[in-house]
Amino acid sequence: MECLDKLYTPQLRKLHSGKVRESFKINEKTRMIVVSDRVSSFDNVLNNMIPNKGAVLNAISNYWFAMIKNIVDNHFLKAIDPNISLVQEAQPIKVEMIVRGYLTGSMWRGYQQGKREFSGVKLKDGLRQNQKFNQPLLTPTTKEDQDREITPKDIVQDGWTSKAILDKMSEISIKLFALGTKVLAEKGIILVDTKYEFGLKNGKLILIDEIHTPDSSRFWDKASYEKNPLQVDSMDKEYIRQWLLNNKIDGKFPEILPEDVISDASRKYIDIYEKILEKKFVESKLPLNTRIYNNLLNNGLIKDGYIIIIMGSPADLEHCKKIHSYLEKYDIYADMRVISAHKNGERIPKITEVYNNSIEPGCVLAVAGRSNGLGGALAANLAIPLINCPPFKDKIDLMVNINSSLMMPSKTPASTVIDASLAALAALRSLNLPRLKEIFRCEIENIKTELIKADDELKSH
Ligand SMILES: Nc1ncnc2c1ncn2[C@@H]1O[C@H](COP(=O)(O)OP(=O)(O)OP(=O)(O)O)[C@@H](O)[C@H]1O
Ligand SMILES: [Mg+2]
Repeated sequence: MECLDKLYTPQLRKLHSGKVRESFKINEKTRMIVVSDRVSSFDNVLNNMIPNKGAVLNAISNYWFAMIKNIVDNHFLKAIDPNISLVQEAQPIKVEMIVRGYLTGSMWRGYQQGKREFSGVKLKDGLRQNQKFNQPLLTPTTKEDQDREITPKDIVQDGWTSKAILDKMSEISIKLFALGTKVLAEKGIILVDTKYEFGLKNGKLILIDEIHTPDSSRFWDKASYEKNPLQVDSMDKEYIRQWLLNNKIDGKFPEILPEDVISDASRKYIDIYEKILEKKFVESKLPLNTRIYNNLLNNGLIKDGYIIIIMGSPADLEHCKKIHSYLEKYDIYADMRVISAHKNGERIPKITEVYNNSIEPGCVLAVAGRSNGLGGALAANLAIPLINCPPFKDKIDLMVNINSSLMMPSKTPASTVIDASLAALAALRSLNLPRLKEIFRCEIENIKTELIKADDELKSH
């Protein structure tokens, strides 16, 4: 089954590639978050993905974002695709507000080993595994490469945020946890623990990231807990964690999950979606990249195709601007870049990775004249069309240097168009977009009509 990993488009700037989510910049105020099907466990991203996991997480978060508005403003703006949302860009506060309703997980492991203080919260002796606390506990951690427990006093003292903001975050976290507990209890689910992230937006505190998802929370089946608190059915990522723990090889976690574990995990994510949202999860029929392309396009976030003009030296800028100007009226995404095949060609594989995997059609124009290594080096790495448009000074320059654009090694399919406007038109045609085909058909018809008109005017009878 198809899974969503990275999302590639040259049209949006990537801000962050996290363990699970990819963030792109839409503008100063808006960020696009793509929830992938990647799964992380014990701070490691696994080699396998879980089909539909991203769509489940995104939908569950958005469900809660709509519900919590009277407790706290949050970053959610608009759902774009099952895996994608637009959110408000915030200044993240680098603290995870963890709220725990039960003694379990890492806290229980610490408790068993005699630890009694967690992020400044003191526990008494004699507590049992999976026991419910009299009231939920706040055990914040820092958000660093290695998250660590931190007391509220140190959060303020070490400058993670101010006392006033921390107090507000604490109050909101407890309120959100109470709401989540109540709503989920009605659906037969126990909200065991969870974490919240906050950010500042124009100085105002808002909730960011995700909320009450099976990645950010522990969920237990209420009925199984009531039967036996020590044999509780987990409805979150615990299934994968447990499988990894039970199948260590030479003390190390396996790198690959077997097929049946992947499909069980996928089923569990869909189950929790259906329990929380109380509706059936409908899998989309379209290939993922096609669906995402359509949704980004329909929301005006990308153009339907792109042309990238890559020059070998900034000295060729004027020629590139000329090509760029011919593209303007076709409403396509056009960009200019500088890479010298000879001097920093090592960048080519990284740059072409985006084009080769992009969700939308594209074409690259290579602008390099004398000993054109650029067109060849790009064509050898690109899975999309490459057209050379060398910038010759004059006819002599052309005659001396044209061969370096025309003669290509094997498996290096670069074509060459000398005239800047023709190169632009050739690149546009290579995209094969229905919208552009229509325009070109009209342009061709107009030229024919003009010629007949000229003929009619000139001929004597
Ligand atoms: N509205 C927002 N404005 C700015 N940053 C945000 C916003 N919402 C979420 N983020 C950040 O985007 C990232 C989401 O990606 P993801 O959760 O996959 O990262 P991660 O690998 O868990 O890394 P991290 O440890 O930073 O959370 C997080 O760093 C989160 O703090
Ligand atoms: Mg995260």
